[in-house]
Amino acid sequence: SQTLQETLLSAIRTIPDYPKPGVMFRDITTLLGNARAFRRAVDELVHPYAGTKIDKIAGIEARGFILGGAMAHQLSSGFVPIRKKGKLPHDTVRVAYSLEYGIDEMEMHKDAVKPGEKVLLVDDLIATGGTAEGAVKLLTQMGAEIVAACFVIDLPDLGGRAKLEALGVDVHTLIAFE
Ligand code: PRP
Ligand code: HPA
Repeated sequence: SQTLQETLLSAIRTIPDYPKPGVMFRDITTLLGNARAFRRAVDELVHPYAGTKIDKIAGIEARGFILGGAMAHQLSSGFVPIRKKGKLPHDTVRVAYSLEYGIDEMEMHKDAVKPGEKVLLVDDLIATGGTAEGAVKLLTQMGAEIVAACFVIDLPDLGGRAKLEALGVDVHTLIAFE
């Protein structure tokens, strides 16, 4: 039987020069479409937290929603969407975050987490860590206890994991691409 690394490596598709020349884009749509690989990835993401009370999974738009919904079901947790600005209908907290070129803003509903709630943050991939850092700021501002930040893919050369760890956040990833 395949190891986790083999399963993930064969299920993640790499698109050279997307969205711009020189970038090797790690595409998880093929993983999501592969029933075995999708289940395996979600199982591995939740494994360290089995038997731990996790109040909420906070998923980052857009691919964090897919993984986070499945994780919330498996851990019997609630789900909180962290969205690009202007998408959430009620009162929000907002943060600017850095992208490779320029900045954007993301939001979370103010009443989405209560002070002291245990939250797992999830996204498909961590690159520079700017997006996850913004999400950590929103959750921390609302008093959440961030148990860990989880990603299927780490791009360690871009420094995101180190950036989150410097903020005191535990980081859990399944596979790295240099
Ligand atoms: C991608 C990815 C992460 C983020 C990682 O999302 O899904 O959210 O970039 O990059 P970073 O660590 O350098 O911040 P993207 O911004 O492409 O948004 P999308 O999922 O809505 O397409
Ligand atoms: N794949 C998906 N999202 C990303 C990537 C990638 O390779 N790099 C930065 N965000």
